[in-house]
Amino acid sequence: MIHQRCGIHLGANKKELLKARLLKRLRFHRLQTFRAYYEFVSDRANESEIEEMIESVATNVTSFFREAAHFDFLTKQGFSELLEAKKSVTSSRVRGWCCATATGEETYSLLISLLEYFGPADAWDVKVLGTDISKKVLRVAKKGEYPLEKIASVPFSLRSRYFDGGACKAKSVCQVNPLLRARAYFRQFNLMQSVFPFHGRFDVIFCRNVMIYFDRPTQESMIRRLLPYLNDNGFLFLGHSESIIGMNLPLKGVAASVYQKIF
Ligand SMILES: C[S@@+](CC[C@H](N)C(=O)[O-])C[C@H]1O[C@@H](n2cnc3c(N)ncnc32)[C@H](O)[C@@H]1O
Repeated sequence: MIHQRCGIHLGANKKELLKARLLKRLRFHRLQTFRAYYEFVSDRANESEIEEMIESVATNVTSFFREAAHFDFLTKQGFSELLEAKKSVTSSRVRGWCCATATGEETYSLLISLLEYFGPADAWDVKVLGTDISKKVLRVAKKGEYPLEKIASVPFSLRSRYFDGGACKAKSVCQVNPLLRARAYFRQFNLMQSVFPFHGRFDVIFCRNVMIYFDRPTQESMIRRLLPYLNDNGFLFLGHSESIIGMNLPLKGVAASVYQKIF
C-alpha cells in the first residue's frame, strides 16, 4: 500500500524499521496488531490515516546547502549558462523546483543561491517552488523558522542578508526574511501522480534524496514524468547516492549527479 501510494519501497530488510515507525500509529488508534492497522487504514472511512502512515514512514532529513558541490556547480557554471540562455530569448523568468523539499532548507538554499547570482532586484523574476508529499514538513517549510544549529551551515554573510534579525545571534530560532518569503512557494505534491499540475517549465529541478527510497522502475518513470517540466537548458539534480545508470533516459551528465536534457 505504501509503495502504491508514494513509491517508497520497503523490502524485507526494512521490516523492523517499518514496525518501529508504525508502532506509534497503532498506539494512537489503540490497535493491537499490524494486521488490524492494515485493515483500519484500508477502510475508506479512514482515508486520512494514509497521510499519517506515509508521514510516519518517510525520512525527512535535510539541511541548508546539503551536498554543497551542487551549489558550487550552479554558482561557478550552471547559473552563467542559464543567464546566457535567458539573454538569447530575452526572458527574465528564473524558476526552481525542489520536488521533495522536506522542511524547506533545500528550497531556501536554492533561492539564496539564485538571488546571490541574479540579484534580488526586480530585473530578474526569481521564484522557487518546494513540494513534498507530507503536509507536516511543508508547514515547517512555509513558516521558514529554524533552530540556530540548522542555520549553522548557512555562511555568516548570507544569514544577515536572508534571515530576520540579521545574524540571529541573540535568538534560539531564526526565520527567513521577506526577501525569501516573497519568492518561495510551498505546495503538497506526490511524485507518484501521473498528472503534474504545472504550466511553465523550471530552469533548475532538485530531485535529491527521495528516489533512493523508490525501486528502479519507479525511479525511472518518475524522472521521465519530470523531464517535460525542465527547460531545455535547465539542470536536473539528483542526490549524490542516486544514479540513472542503466536507465534509458534522454539525459546527459554535466557534473556529479547533475544532468541536462538531450534534445
Ligand atoms: C530525505 S528527504 C530529502 C529532502 C531534500 N530533498 C534533501 O535532499 O535534503 C525526502 C523527502 O521526500 C518526501 N517524499 C517521499 N515520497 C514522496 C513522494 N512520493 N512525493 C513527494 N515527496 C515524497 C518525504 O516526505 C521527505 O520529505
